Amino acid sequence: MSRDKVFVTRQLPPTALERLSAHCDFEVWQEFMPPPYEVIREKVGDQSGLICLLTDRIDGPLMDAGPGLKVISNMAVGFDNVDVAAANERGIPVGNTPGVLTETTADFAFALLMAVARRIPEATRYIADGKWRTWHPTVLAGQDIFGATLGIVGFGRIGQALARRAAGFNVRVLVDTLEPEAEVSAAGGEKVSLDELLRESDYVSLHVPMTDDTHHLIGKAELTAMKPTAILINTSRGGVIDPSALYEALRDGEILGAGLDVTEPEPIALDDPLLTLDNCLIVPHIASASVATRTKMAEMAVANLIAGLRGLPLPTCVNPEVQPGT
Ligand code: DGY
Repeated sequence: MSRDKVFVTRQLPPTALERLSAHCDFEVWQEFMPPPYEVIREKVGDQSGLICLLTDRIDGPLMDAGPGLKVISNMAVGFDNVDVAAANERGIPVGNTPGVLTETTADFAFALLMAVARRIPEATRYIADGKWRTWHPTVLAGQDIFGATLGIVGFGRIGQALARRAAGFNVRVLVDTLEPEAEVSAAGGEKVSLDELLRESDYVSLHVPMTDDTHHLIGKAELTAMKPTAILINTSRGGVIDPSALYEALRDGEILGAGLDVTEPEPIALDDPLLTLDNCLIVPHIASASVATRTKMAEMAVANLIAGLRGLPLPTCVNPEVQPGT
């Protein structure tokens, strides 16, 4: 019997590829930069499976180019890069990698929060610029974290993991979510409206998926509602914040600072005005980037792919309605 063929859009950790090799023939895109859309479209022509990343746009026409596609496995918890409605129409299950990156991403959201609050990147630049000449009472004074109020927008796995970290700093947690109030209270938070959260929080951290409803959820009005001493953290998707409104709010002192793991667009253009601001810390979408977690994400993507090739339910599927037996 001939083996299934699979296209993998980027080099993955060796353990994941070893597991894959036991089940199918595969081709891995070897370059550092993602394969162009047209290349993926061509590659899937004779493939049964695709392992892709959040940088790969996977839409209906691409799926149509692979009539034998049995499964699409996205190595990310977010799947806004995949047109799931198109996959549903074609009966293709789509896998993602929830759970394994929760704690790593929450660690990083808290690290960003602390770095901006205590002005750590500014402090390293201060030394590099030769400005450290003495101890001074007001130099690089930042904001306290202990005893502050943290607003968490979106209370899925990562939002809840952030709340657990906040508890260790005696931080009050306000939550904007569709989850029931009892669930929020059980996790140590207080369910409030987005407006109340923005007005009362010293830190606001975003943990919503990228959808039409969350596009530019944080714009001029929301930034204006925040305290002038507030710090905004985003480890979700760049498109959740209107970047022009954020630039103006940071420049004009409407909020104190921002820590962004994600931007709109990605990568951020080198002439983006946000990069000129001392009170904006931007890093290149690395919140889940621990060696252990990225390895687990790849292994999970492979497990989803193998299940899909065998016609079995994917362990983690974003469109279970097309899974076999449902
Ligand atoms: C995801 O998995 O969606 C994350 O953004 C990767 O860091």
